[in-house]
Amino acid sequence: MSVHSSANIKRITTHILQEMKNRGEKISMLTAYDYSMARIVDDAGMDIILVGDSASNVMAGHETTLPITLDQMIYHASAVVRAVKRALVVVDIPFGSYQGNSTEALRSAIRIMKESGAHSVKVEGGSEIKESVIRILSAGVPVMGHLGLTPQSIYKFGTYTVRAKEESEAKKLLEDAMLLEACGCFAIVLEKIPASLAKKVAESVTIPVIGIGAGGEVDGQVLVMHDMLGITQEFKPRFLRQYADLEDIMKKAFVQYIEDVKNKDFPNESESY
Ligand code: KIV
Repeated sequence: MSVHSSANIKRITTHILQEMKNRGEKISMLTAYDYSMARIVDDAGMDIILVGDSASNVMAGHETTLPITLDQMIYHASAVVRAVKRALVVVDIPFGSYQGNSTEALRSAIRIMKESGAHSVKVEGGSEIKESVIRILSAGVPVMGHLGLTPQSIYKFGTYTVRAKEESEAKKLLEDAMLLEACGCFAIVLEKIPASLAKKVAESVTIPVIGIGAGGEVDGQVLVMHDMLGITQEFKPRFLRQYADLEDIMKKAFVQYIEDVKNKDFPNESESY
């Protein structure tokens, strides 16, 4: 089922992603937070694996992405990096570790790169975090931007609805995208904005634009693994395509195992020494 031959692995770099945009080849990106899942995702041929701060939600059960710490992100990222042979690994710098203080931003990015072995970092925001972005880039760390619905600002937005429907917010988003490109970001994620605006951004910048709930006229797509596998059953936004119902499959396996243990069917003779 693998879309690439493991015998012929060529690591995905930011340069390769740029070439993909240039020739119109779409970029695939998915989140992963642990070794076992990252190994499967990488073997399937994913271009980018994002160690998202959505780990705060899907791994730790928090309501928002805000509580996850830098140490916890580094823990998840190291596990993912140990599994990955081909994909570019991007790690979210968590809330409170880069905003408003470019020295702290640089320190956080360097810790992620040094301690996890990841290949790049992602930050949320535009002009407000310009100094932090420039400082991180100055150390040679590739930076991916993230605009639109930026979950670290959820308490400012007050809701997870579509962003940048108003002219003024759309204008700022486009300006921020161009600013991030001018600073030297290698790509930008656009989350939950009108498809027409996302198309305009993708046409206005030369770097790859990856969408989540941003329509099909961008350079690639990203989803949260647990959402697309049907593990987070309660989260079903319009943009989400669910590729499997793993909750059902896993629950059936767990129920069967319980039954087998209770009925003394497991282990049988061939499963014993
Ligand atoms: O943390 C995350 O999973 C993300 C994606 C939604 C892009 O930032």
